[in-house]
Formats: sequence, C-alpha cells, structure tokens
Amino acid sequence: MADRLGVVVLISGSGSNLQALIDAAGDRMPIEIAAVVSNRPGVMGLERARRAGIPAHVVDDREFPDRAAFETVLRERIDRYRPGLVCLAGFMRILTPETVLHYAGRMLNIHPSLLPAFPGLHTHRRAIEAGCREHGASVHFVTPDLDGGPVVARIRVPVLPGDDPETLARRVLEQEHRLYPAVVDWFARGRLDCRDGAVVLDGRPLEAPVDLTGIGD
Ligand code: GRF
Repeated sequence: MADRLGVVVLISGSGSNLQALIDAAGDRMPIEIAAVVSNRPGVMGLERARRAGIPAHVVDDREFPDRAAFETVLRERIDRYRPGLVCLAGFMRILTPETVLHYAGRMLNIHPSLLPAFPGLHTHRRAIEAGCREHGASVHFVTPDLDGGPVVARIRVPVLPGDDPETLARRVLEQEHRLYPAVVDWFARGRLDCRDGAVVLDGRPLEAPVDLTGIGD
C-alpha cells in the first residue's frame, strides 16, 4: 500500500516484539511489514511472519566466512524491499558500522533496559544485582555505538522484591510490546526523525527520551 511505510524487521528468536508490530500494523499503524529476516533458522519469529503472510528469510551468519560477507547478503536481502524503516527486534548480532550507516536515521532497536544504563546483554540480572528499584525498556536509533544511539522513548518498570531475572524480563517484555509500536507509529507518520545525532519529534529536538510509562493501561 503506497500510503504505508515499508518496514523490514530483523530477528533472531521468539519475535514477540515482531508480533506486537504485526498486530499494530493490522489495527491502526500506517506501516506494511514488507519482510522479516532472521539470522537463525527455525525460530518462532519466522513462524509468526509466515502466519501473518509476511515474506520470511533466513540469512544465517554462521554460513559466512566473516561479518562483512554476512552483512553484504543481509543488506542485499533487506534492500530488495526498499524499506523506509528497519526495526531490530531481538536481533542478536552486532552490526558493523558499514551496515548501520547504510540505514542511518532509519534503523531502530528495542533494548531491555533504561538506556544509557545497561547496554549489552543480561540487562535484567545486572539491574537486580545493581539494586535498581526501576528497570525498563528503550527504543533508540541505531548508530555504530552499541546500544548507544539516541534514545527516543522509554518505559519504566518497577523491580519488585523477590524478582529474579526471568520474572523481571517477563514484566519488561510486556511493556516492550507497547513501547515499540508507539515509536514506530511516530516514525511512520513522519513525526520522528534523527538529525545530527539528535532525536526530533514533531519538529522539536528532544531534551530527554519520551517517558511512555503507563501507555496502553
Ligand atoms: C527483547 O527483550 C528485546 O528487547 C531484546 O531481545 C528480546 C527479544 O524478544 N533485544 P522477542 O524476540 O521480541 O520476543
């Protein structure tokens, strides 16, 4: 559909955030998920794509001699769909600057922490071990700096007494499913931009990430 933003979603696993985007796209959001690409075969996210009638591809990084060769094929696969936006949704490979810069200003990632706190892996365990009373999720534009690109919006989630990494992850993931579609919707409607490394929403540079805690309650 010409009035919808074409989106390619990159995954590595379960794809529950992909599902949230699929559901929102069907409902109300002016996007068309043009394709899903996974770097792992056989994952649930590929099944979700197929069920929704979305072309699903595997580009398995383990089949390539190096990162450059893998990403050449990955970019070729993505670009075939000419997406206006590329969403990383549980995509567990670090991308080289060449690929990230190729999609500058049109690649988003969702990360399970209140960035800039806890970039990288095992965020839930690290937040508990650090004694945080609050944890959450962030959506940011992707730059060559791992989990360090400009943050668009976040949702805060309390760390409850007795939480372990699994219970906390579950509660954060529920909120991720609200956060990612909200931000993608802004982008699809032309409200969101990344200029000179700064996030611009509705024509104004953001001074701080938007706090979407409570959205959808
Ligand atoms: C999410 O917590 C996401 O923030 C992180 O990996 C997880 C992916 O979950 N990057 P899913 O595949 O979307 O279910």
